[in-house]
Amino acid sequence: MEKRKIEFEIEVHQESKTLTEDLKSLLGIAIASRENAYAPYSKFQVGAAVLLENGEVVIGNNQENASYPSGLCAERVAIFYAGAKYPNIEIKAVAISAASKEYIVNRPAAPCGNCRQAIAEYEHKQKSPIKIILQGEKGDILVCNAIADLLPLSFDSTFLSES
Ligand code: THU
Repeated sequence: MEKRKIEFEIEVHQESKTLTEDLKSLLGIAIASRENAYAPYSKFQVGAAVLLENGEVVIGNNQENASYPSGLCAERVAIFYAGAKYPNIEIKAVAISAASKEYIVNRPAAPCGNCRQAIAEYEHKQKSPIKIILQGEKGDILVCNAIADLLPLSFDSTFLSES
Protein backbone atom coordinates (compact mmCIF):
# COMPACT_ATOMS: atom_id res chain seq x y z
CA MET A 1 0.00 0.00 0.00
CA GLU A 2 1.15 3.51 -0.71
CA LYS A 3 -0.43 6.80 0.12
CA ARG A 4 -0.71 9.58 -2.44
CA LYS A 5 -1.34 13.18 -1.58
CA ILE A 6 -3.42 15.30 -3.93
CA GLU A 7 -2.67 18.98 -3.53
CA PHE A 8 -3.70 22.10 -5.37
CA GLU A 9 -2.99 25.76 -5.10
CA ILE A 10 -5.47 28.63 -5.23
CA GLU A 11 -5.03 32.37 -5.19
CA VAL A 12 -6.88 34.20 -2.44
CA HIS A 13 -7.50 37.87 -3.22
CA GLN A 14 -8.79 40.24 -0.55
CA GLU A 15 -9.95 42.68 -3.20
CA SER A 16 -10.57 42.66 -6.95
CA LYS A 17 -7.76 45.21 -7.52
CA THR A 18 -5.16 42.45 -7.39
CA LEU A 19 -6.85 40.36 -10.11
CA THR A 20 -5.66 40.60 -13.71
CA GLU A 21 -7.73 43.06 -15.76
CA ASP A 22 -9.53 40.33 -17.74
CA LEU A 23 -10.52 38.39 -14.61
CA LYS A 24 -11.62 41.55 -12.79
CA SER A 25 -13.85 42.46 -15.69
CA LEU A 26 -15.18 38.88 -15.95
CA LEU A 27 -16.09 38.88 -12.25
CA GLY A 28 -17.90 42.21 -12.75
CA ILE A 29 -19.98 40.61 -15.52
CA ALA A 30 -20.79 37.61 -13.28
CA ILE A 31 -21.94 39.99 -10.52
CA ALA A 32 -24.16 41.89 -12.97
CA SER A 33 -25.64 38.68 -14.36
CA ARG A 34 -26.93 37.67 -10.89
CA GLU A 35 -29.59 40.26 -11.49
CA ASN A 36 -31.44 38.08 -14.03
CA ALA A 37 -31.35 34.93 -11.92
CA TYR A 38 -34.77 33.33 -11.52
CA ALA A 39 -34.58 32.14 -7.94
CA PRO A 40 -38.02 32.64 -6.34
CA TYR A 41 -37.64 29.49 -4.22
CA SER A 42 -34.13 29.66 -2.79
CA LYS A 43 -33.69 33.46 -3.04
CA PHE A 44 -30.07 32.56 -3.75
CA GLN A 45 -28.97 34.33 -6.91
CA VAL A 46 -25.93 33.15 -8.79
CA GLY A 47 -24.31 34.76 -11.82
CA ALA A 48 -21.70 33.15 -14.04
CA ALA A 49 -19.57 34.59 -16.85
CA VAL A 50 -17.51 32.49 -19.26
CA LEU A 51 -14.48 34.04 -20.99
CA LEU A 52 -13.62 32.52 -24.38
CA GLU A 53 -10.30 32.60 -26.19
CA ASN A 54 -11.72 34.95 -28.83
CA GLY A 55 -12.51 37.50 -26.11
CA GLU A 56 -16.26 36.86 -26.13
CA VAL A 57 -18.02 36.55 -22.77
CA VAL A 58 -21.11 34.35 -22.34
CA ILE A 59 -23.25 34.69 -19.23
CA GLY A 60 -25.66 32.55 -17.24
CA ASN A 61 -27.61 32.66 -14.00
CA ASN A 62 -29.57 30.10 -12.02
CA GLN A 63 -33.02 29.27 -13.35
CA GLU A 64 -35.28 27.56 -10.82
CA ASN A 65 -38.47 25.60 -11.26
CA ALA A 66 -41.49 24.77 -9.08
CA SER A 67 -40.45 21.19 -9.74
CA TYR A 68 -37.11 21.79 -8.02
CA PRO A 69 -34.82 19.33 -9.88
CA SER A 70 -35.87 20.84 -13.20
CA GLY A 71 -33.99 24.05 -12.42
CA LEU A 72 -30.38 24.62 -13.40
CA CYS A 73 -27.37 26.28 -11.77
CA ALA A 74 -25.80 29.43 -13.21
CA GLU A 75 -22.54 27.71 -14.13
CA ARG A 76 -24.23 25.09 -16.29
CA VAL A 77 -26.53 27.62 -17.95
CA ALA A 78 -23.42 29.64 -18.91
CA ILE A 79 -21.11 26.81 -19.92
CA PHE A 80 -23.79 25.03 -21.99
CA TYR A 81 -24.63 28.33 -23.67
CA ALA A 82 -20.92 28.77 -24.50
CA GLY A 83 -20.78 25.22 -25.87
CA ALA A 84 -23.93 25.81 -27.92
CA LYS A 85 -22.85 29.14 -29.36
CA TYR A 86 -19.08 28.66 -29.74
CA PRO A 87 -18.48 24.89 -29.87
CA ASN A 88 -14.92 25.17 -31.16
CA ILE A 89 -13.62 28.13 -29.16
CA GLU A 90 -11.56 27.41 -26.08
CA ILE A 91 -12.90 28.44 -22.69
CA LYS A 92 -10.33 30.35 -20.63
CA ALA A 93 -12.17 31.14 -17.40
CA VAL A 94 -15.50 31.03 -15.57
CA ALA A 95 -16.34 33.63 -12.90
CA ILE A 96 -19.12 32.83 -10.41
CA SER A 97 -20.76 35.24 -8.00
CA ALA A 98 -23.43 34.40 -5.43
CA ALA A 99 -25.82 36.59 -3.45
CA SER A 100 -28.85 35.95 -1.29
CA LYS A 101 -32.02 38.00 -0.88
CA GLU A 102 -32.06 36.88 2.78
CA TYR A 103 -28.54 37.33 4.09
CA ILE A 104 -25.14 38.63 2.99
CA VAL A 105 -23.04 35.95 1.33
CA ASN A 106 -19.63 36.84 2.76
CA ARG A 107 -17.61 33.96 1.32
CA PRO A 108 -17.16 32.44 -2.12
CA ALA A 109 -19.93 29.94 -2.93
CA ALA A 110 -18.49 26.61 -4.04
CA PRO A 111 -19.79 25.29 -7.36
CA CYS A 112 -21.90 22.15 -6.88
CA GLY A 113 -20.64 18.73 -7.92
CA ASN A 114 -22.78 18.60 -11.07
CA CYS A 115 -21.41 21.94 -12.24
CA ARG A 116 -17.83 20.83 -11.56
CA GLN A 117 -18.45 17.72 -13.65
CA ALA A 118 -20.02 19.77 -16.46
CA ILE A 119 -17.13 22.24 -16.56
CA ALA A 120 -14.61 19.37 -16.35
CA GLU A 121 -16.10 17.91 -19.53
CA TYR A 122 -15.14 21.04 -21.48
CA GLU A 123 -11.69 21.17 -19.90
CA HIS A 124 -11.15 17.57 -20.98
CA LYS A 125 -12.54 18.30 -24.45
CA GLN A 126 -10.24 21.27 -25.08
CA LYS A 127 -7.25 19.77 -23.23
CA SER A 128 -6.41 23.03 -21.51
CA PRO A 129 -7.29 24.34 -18.06
CA ILE A 130 -10.26 26.58 -17.27
CA LYS A 131 -9.70 29.09 -14.48
CA ILE A 132 -12.49 29.40 -11.92
CA ILE A 133 -13.04 32.68 -10.07
CA LEU A 134 -15.37 32.63 -7.05
CA GLN A 135 -16.85 35.34 -4.87
CA GLY A 136 -19.87 35.93 -2.65
CA GLU A 137 -21.31 39.41 -2.21
CA LYS A 138 -18.22 40.39 -0.26
CA GLY A 139 -15.14 38.76 1.17
CA ASP A 140 -12.30 36.87 -0.42
CA ILE A 141 -12.07 36.13 -4.11
CA LEU A 142 -10.66 32.71 -4.98
CA VAL A 143 -8.93 31.94 -8.26
CA CYS A 144 -8.51 28.24 -9.07
CA ASN A 145 -6.19 27.34 -11.92
CA ALA A 146 -8.27 24.48 -13.29
CA ILE A 147 -11.63 22.84 -12.63
CA ALA A 148 -9.72 19.53 -12.35
CA ASP A 149 -8.31 20.92 -9.08
CA LEU A 150 -11.85 21.12 -7.70
CA LEU A 151 -12.76 17.64 -8.96
CA PRO A 152 -9.84 15.28 -8.56
CA LEU A 153 -10.16 11.66 -9.77
CA SER A 154 -12.98 12.71 -12.06
CA PHE A 155 -14.88 10.58 -14.55
CA ASP A 156 -14.24 11.43 -18.18
CA SER A 157 -14.58 9.99 -21.67
CA THR A 158 -11.42 7.89 -21.35
CA PHE A 159 -13.41 5.43 -19.22
CA LEU A 160 -15.95 4.81 -21.96
CA SER A 161 -13.64 2.64 -24.04
CA GLU A 162 -10.60 0.50 -23.39
CA SER A 163 -7.41 2.51 -23.74
N1 THU B 1 -26.74 27.30 -7.45
C1 THU B 1 -26.01 27.71 -8.53
O1 THU B 1 -26.53 28.37 -9.45
N2 THU B 1 -24.70 27.38 -8.56
C2 THU B 1 -24.06 26.67 -7.60
O2 THU B 1 -22.91 26.33 -7.77
C3 THU B 1 -24.76 26.30 -6.37
C4 THU B 1 -26.22 26.52 -6.35
C5 THU B 1 -28.16 27.63 -7.42
C6 THU B 1 -29.08 26.47 -7.63
C7 THU B 1 -30.33 26.95 -6.95
O3 THU B 1 -31.07 27.75 -7.87
C8 THU B 1 -29.83 27.86 -5.84
O4 THU B 1 -28.49 28.18 -6.17
C9 THU B 1 -29.86 27.22 -4.46
O5 THU B 1 -29.28 25.99 -4.48
